Amino acid sequence: MTSCMPIRSSWNPKTNNSPAVPTTTSVNAKSTATTNLGWMSSLRDLPREHGFEPLRVEGTIPADLVGTLYRVGPSLFSSFGKPYGHLFDGDGAVTAVRFANGRALGAAKLVQSEGLVEERRAGHQIYGGYGTPVPGLKRFLPLRPNSKLKNPANTSILLWGERVFGLYEGDVPTEIAPSDLATLGEKDLGMVVESFSAHPRGVPSRRAMYNFGLRYGRKTVLDIYVLDNSGRGRKVVEIALERTTMIHDFIATEKHLVFFSPPIYYNPLRLLFGVDTLHSAMRWKPELGTEVIVVPIDDPQHWTCFTIDPFFQWHFLNGYERGNGNWSYRRSGHCHGNDQPCQYCRHCRDLWKRHASESGDSRRAGPYYECRKYYDHWRAANRSGRRRFGRDVS
Ligand SMILES: [Fe+2]
Repeated sequence: MTSCMPIRSSWNPKTNNSPAVPTTTSVNAKSTATTNLGWMSSLRDLPREHGFEPLRVEGTIPADLVGTLYRVGPSLFSSFGKPYGHLFDGDGAVTAVRFANGRALGAAKLVQSEGLVEERRAGHQIYGGYGTPVPGLKRFLPLRPNSKLKNPANTSILLWGERVFGLYEGDVPTEIAPSDLATLGEKDLGMVVESFSAHPRGVPSRRAMYNFGLRYGRKTVLDIYVLDNSGRGRKVVEIALERTTMIHDFIATEKHLVFFSPPIYYNPLRLLFGVDTLHSAMRWKPELGTEVIVVPIDDPQHWTCFTIDPFFQWHFLNGYERGNGNWSYRRSGHCHGNDQPCQYCRHCRDLWKRHASESGDSRRAGPYYECRKYYDHWRAANRSGRRRFGRDVS
């Protein structure tokens, strides 16, 4: 089966010939599929937006396959001819494939974020991003970093009851209409103070999801949230961190939420006055170690913190309680310092014995396995320029 995932026009990253706004030109799928650009194919602009329409199907869709698959990702990589400074800053687009009655319908829409709409109305770039400097002198105004950044809603999809949201690390969720993928606007869900991570985690036994956000200021504050399956959300606790760092993901087990605060250091003044972007301001201080913050779900005010050997990870696959006071987790996509290339890895760790083993990569376990012991997982990887698909066994 082919999907309506964006069929992208050819784009040369060196000459940046991508259009500032999406075109409506459709590109032949077969000719695009034969172009072997590897991961670079993900850096081409979305060429066409459309509502739900029938997709070409090869083979047979099982009649009992019913539901909708949502995806979101960066889909525009420049603003008025000026390329963004980082993949993470691309304006988001939501795609969806709806399965029912042995048929598949697909849709693709740009997220009409407040920032994108404002920039198009103004006719020039206004906002910066994770690795894109704020244009002009505005960057040097002493504004909170978040006030200078666009919220492209480009990182992950949150499904909460019947509601669909596009998430971005540094801002509030953006609601998307399931019927036609129209952008319904930013929503603080009645609880989000400043940001809402793109990696919420479910705890099936509690019929709830948990998530967090970081607030940068004189003190960096970790806000922790819960969203229950009945549609209610609230802040669980806020924790003042000892360092101005970045936390990208966390672990939820049936009893604990576990956060890893890596020895990444940001100079808050350089961010405040626009001298650095978040990406360029990052410094690695391994001598500080990685702080582990353990929050008991039933008693969140009594969280504990301790320090282990330094590491940084992008994502965790899963975590679960072992029943003997320990817990196990698996992380992926870590790098030890700015001078070393990122690598994908598997990591099983007993924090108390400080034992580790590595290989592999993954981002999230299926809902059935969340917070449970699991034996294997599948992963995609790209090593030496070759795309691979592999299987890891715990
Ligand atoms: Fe992520």
